Amino acid sequence: MFERLREDIQGVFHRDPAARNAFEVLTCYPGMHAIWIHRLSSALWGMGWKWLARLVSNFGRWLTGIEIHPGAKVGRRFFIDHGMGIVIGETAEIGNDVTLYQGVTLGGTSWNKGKRHPTLEDGVVVGAGAKVLGPFTVGAGAKVGSNAVVTKAVPAGATVVGIPGRIIVKSDDEQEAKRKAMAEKLGFDAYGVSEDMPDPVARAIGQLLDHLQAVDGRLEGMCGALKDLGSPYCAKDLPELREEDFACVKGKDETPAN
Ligand SMILES: CC(C)(COP(=O)(O)OP(=O)(O)OC[C@H]1O[C@@H](n2cnc3c(N)ncnc32)[C@H](O)[C@@H]1OP(=O)(O)O)[C@@H](O)C(=O)NCCC(=O)NCCS
Repeated sequence: MFERLREDIQGVFHRDPAARNAFEVLTCYPGMHAIWIHRLSSALWGMGWKWLARLVSNFGRWLTGIEIHPGAKVGRRFFIDHGMGIVIGETAEIGNDVTLYQGVTLGGTSWNKGKRHPTLEDGVVVGAGAKVLGPFTVGAGAKVGSNAVVTKAVPAGATVVGIPGRIIVKSDDEQEAKRKAMAEKLGFDAYGVSEDMPDPVARAIGQLLDHLQAVDGRLEGMCGALKDLGSPYCAKDLPELREEDFACVKGKDETPAN
């Protein structure tokens, strides 16, 4: 028991730079109190003392603002920072070294009995105010951004943000690099839009520019071949695109005076 306690306190030091000493953690961290009360309620639940387990769990909620159903399975070094407004449902499963911030819900979306709450694998971090809803798995090491609403499985190591939760794709893929090169060539960022933005017009323009880039490459190849054959056809450069040419698409306020 003391070994687990020591482990819990160490876990806080690793994840909260504000923690100063063990006594402070023991006395001033409602997240810790909630976990210890949950261990008791969970043991009672396992022994079949269901009502007593719910009562103890409710006492924990009253004391800390953190509601953990006694049926929820919680791993080691679980850390709840700040607490308040946290709800963890009956069939939720939480691995080792998981961190939750205030206002997180690990909830269900159906009233059917059986598995209806999420499983968080080892090392998952769920940001303040996020809702993770449904009987799916959030893979090891994944991060859920604050205020995200996640209703689908999250692969290990991924970061999910927004409503509905979408995985952040770090923009270092080949296509994105090509787009950046194209933007530089044009002299400004005509895309001005990331891959996951919902604006259909912006996406359509993005697709057109992708196509333009492909055609551009093809033309350059053909010009090279014609030059090799001695044709002067490609002697002239294409007219340069200037930012002013696109001024009318920048917004009403910026429409050039005529
Ligand atoms: C989601 C999170 C883990 C991302 O961290 P990260 O991997 O370092 O990602 P970055 O900060 O580089 O952000 C990547 C992109 O996601 C966006 N983003 C980050 N967090 C976001 C969130 N919660 N909601 C929406 N978008 C978010 C960033 O603006 C950035 O967008 P861009 O690429 O268009 O500029 C982090 O932002 C987060 O929300 N952590 C929770 C922390 C918390 O709740 N703390 C409470 C302390 S009391």
